[in-house]
Amino acid sequence: MQNQVTIKDFNNFEVGELYAIMRHIYLTSGFMSDDFDEKFPSIGFFKTYFSNLLKRNGSFILIAIFDDKPVGYIVLETNAATRLQHTAWLNMGVVDIFRGKGIGQQLLDAAINKAFNDRKIEIVYLMVRSDHFGAVRLYKKAGFDQIALLEKDTKIGDEYFDGILMRKFIK
Ligand SMILES: CC(C)(COP(=O)(O)OP(=O)(O)OC[C@H]1O[C@@H](n2cnc3c(N)ncnc32)[C@H](O)[C@@H]1OP(=O)(O)O)[C@@H](O)C(=O)NCCC(=O)NCCS
Repeated sequence: MQNQVTIKDFNNFEVGELYAIMRHIYLTSGFMSDDFDEKFPSIGFFKTYFSNLLKRNGSFILIAIFDDKPVGYIVLETNAATRLQHTAWLNMGVVDIFRGKGIGQQLLDAAINKAFNDRKIEIVYLMVRSDHFGAVRLYKKAGFDQIALLEKDTKIGDEYFDGILMRKFIK
């Protein structure tokens, strides 16, 4: 599987493809914090959101391609505040039937390499639910450290879940 997946910059892709896989990933994972259709009420809204994100110095999106189809994405979004622009937030996902095959790891490695080579992002942060064991393991393997446990950070109905704030220094 690993040899058949290629990682490409989103700029080479149609926004509709990114919208379709991101929506699918949000709808098939219980661990995302946002309701996709509330966050992006239309594809036009989605396009504007991500074209604004990509205008910010250092931000980028990578896509994993298998058989000419996108199967995963990773977004590194730099902070907008002038003095925080060397820091970025990470968000990623893999299409459900392709999970557990090393694609998440390939996306993460490619994003860390790109950030290192671009020399703009120096620190990457991410938030993950503490009970999302696979994701926590993936991030720890890639060198992210846990810097805080945020108790009751997520609330779904009447149920609370802790969050973990993780950080990796790129530079
Ligand atoms: C989290 C996610 C991105 C991981 O991507 P993936 O392609 O499934 O992960 P990989 O196959 O590359 O796994 C790499 C490593 O992560 C860990 N891992 C990933 N999924 C795991 C699981 N379900 N159980 C245990 N470990 C897991 C393992 O350490 C694995 O390394 P190993 O093969 O040496 O054991 C993917 O499962 C996903 O998209 N989930 C839904 C969306 C989501 O939750 N995004 C992250 C929000 S924080």
